[in-house]
Amino acid sequence: MTAKNSDFGSFAQDVLLGLSSNPKTLSSKYFYDAKGDKLFQQIMALPEYYLTRKEYEILKSKHELILASILSQDKPFNLVELGAGDGMKTKILLRYLTQLNIDFTYYPVDFSGSVLEELEESLLEELPELVVNPIQDTYRNSLKKQVWEDGRPNLILFMGANLGNFGVDEAKNIIDHLRVGTKKGDLVLIGFDLKKNPQTILDAYHDNVGVTREFNLNLLDRINRELDADFDRDSFVHWPTYDPVSGECRSYLVSLTAQQVAIGALNQTFDFKAFESIFTEISKKYSLSEIEHLASLGGFEVKENFMDSEGYFADVLWVKK
Ligand code: AVJ
Repeated sequence: MTAKNSDFGSFAQDVLLGLSSNPKTLSSKYFYDAKGDKLFQQIMALPEYYLTRKEYEILKSKHELILASILSQDKPFNLVELGAGDGMKTKILLRYLTQLNIDFTYYPVDFSGSVLEELEESLLEELPELVVNPIQDTYRNSLKKQVWEDGRPNLILFMGANLGNFGVDEAKNIIDHLRVGTKKGDLVLIGFDLKKNPQTILDAYHDNVGVTREFNLNLLDRINRELDADFDRDSFVHWPTYDPVSGECRSYLVSLTAQQVAIGALNQTFDFKAFESIFTEISKKYSLSEIEHLASLGGFEVKENFMDSEGYFADVLWVKK
């Protein structure tokens, strides 16, 4: 196999690597094709999935306080968003800044081109005067390239608990990219899902109507569709777990039978033992002290932790020292 498109990694290559590993893994970043984007929209509307609503509440009730630090610099600035998504929450900030007639440029960064297109379209409709520069890239590459850097202050948004999709070491690596990718006085707003009653967390990833199950199984469908494979989705069970010590919510697809799966694009078959699992996703939950530690690793000072009324979620504002 050739290492084409190394920035994004090739889907086929990552599938080959993941299914050749022991234990088997598939990365949750591949959940988000057109079907997966739709399923994630449905997840965000689930009663069990509190994360989006809690962060929305924080932005709704505290956007003035959140933006006070960047506005007090009284200069034009860049608003960079890592993992922009549908912009539901960001629009609260964008509307407010537009109403105040603030001079700023919005740089949404996303791995998904279709997500960026839809976002740009809906922003053009609602806030036509907004200056938008979409960047299709990974978090880390965008922080390396910093195409937004022009000497103006930056406020970097990293919301949606997206950092939770990385294991401890990778999360630290991303914080290090934030350290390198920011200058003194730059601000970072990061969303963290907090440790809480384990049942509440598990329920969020094990909803009653099975949308999250579909979201995971779509990854097998996607491999079938795009890589000419023959996964039998009904022979896999979706199994989320939560470890209250590490705060790691992990999802697996467990093969209920011994079986062989052929992947045409890889010219290869993969053997599954009965009850062998594929690890698909980590969604880490944090304590405030862990978050503070991350801030110090990145050379940031904690300005303020913004939380919802139940203390489920935190958007933390850091300033670069
Ligand atoms: C988009 C990473 C925040 O981990 O909670 C939702 C993705 N996975 N349900 C999360 C997800 C299963 C979500 N994030």
